[in-house]
Amino acid sequence: MVILKYEGKTKVVKREGGFVLLEFKDDITAGDGLKHDVMENKGVYCAEITAILMKYLNENSVRTHFLEYIPPRTLKVIPLKMFPLEVVVRFKKAGSFVKRYGGTEGEDLEKPLVEFFLKDDARHDPMVCVDHLELLGIAEKKQAEEMKEISVKASELLKSLFAKSGFELWDIKYEFGLDSEGRVILGDEISPDTFRLRKRGEIFDKDVYRRDLGDPMEKYREVLELCRSLSSL
Ligand code: TMP
Ligand code: ASP
Repeated sequence: MVILKYEGKTKVVKREGGFVLLEFKDDITAGDGLKHDVMENKGVYCAEITAILMKYLNENSVRTHFLEYIPPRTLKVIPLKMFPLEVVVRFKKAGSFVKRYGGTEGEDLEKPLVEFFLKDDARHDPMVCVDHLELLGIAEKKQAEEMKEISVKASELLKSLFAKSGFELWDIKYEFGLDSEGRVILGDEISPDTFRLRKRGEIFDKDVYRRDLGDPMEKYREVLELCRSLSSL
């Protein structure tokens, strides 16, 4: 029996027996949901890209919730109790980093920077530090440290993978949850919605949509083809 658990901006979450089914929708949003469109096959691209990249992480000692890709737009995953958090890893300055701290888009950071944000559209996802997470009862210090460690490891792996085809991973966002044994596991998705990916100045991520730079789906399709070719290496 399949039970609907929750419908978010870009995914429908269902429960089937001991597993969870994530169905990727064709919706694309920006500005905390203020900008919204439906683009044919967007969910199909993001589901398969997530499947390929999470399988790669699973095979390289970063445990994710991913179990199986059910074409065209569904992932079978392990159930997690999600932290209401976004964990961002940055290799280069861009987006909200430049807005907040200045500098130029694309400038290198000396070492990977990890930032935590509360997942709260109404408050525009405020940035928080580990003390907030403890104080607000969102995560223990040890869990936050683990999220940080896993995020950097996953990002280094994905950065090296994309680099094989000359693509630069600028930054990436993760979401985590606890499995039935209380372990911190990487969940949600990894797709052009959740990272910035560039090649010789060309944009292959949701910034194409955020900044109205053309048809985002052309780029998402190219990222899927890139991921398919990288996964067969
Ligand atoms: P930012 O520069 O806007 O903070 O974004 C950092 C990275 O996180 C970028 O790759 C886009 C991604 N991201 C999400 O996946 N969801 C979000 O809600 C936001 C704000 C950013
Ligand atoms: N994910 C956010 C939204 O859906 C914003 C973003 O990715 O830029 O509004």
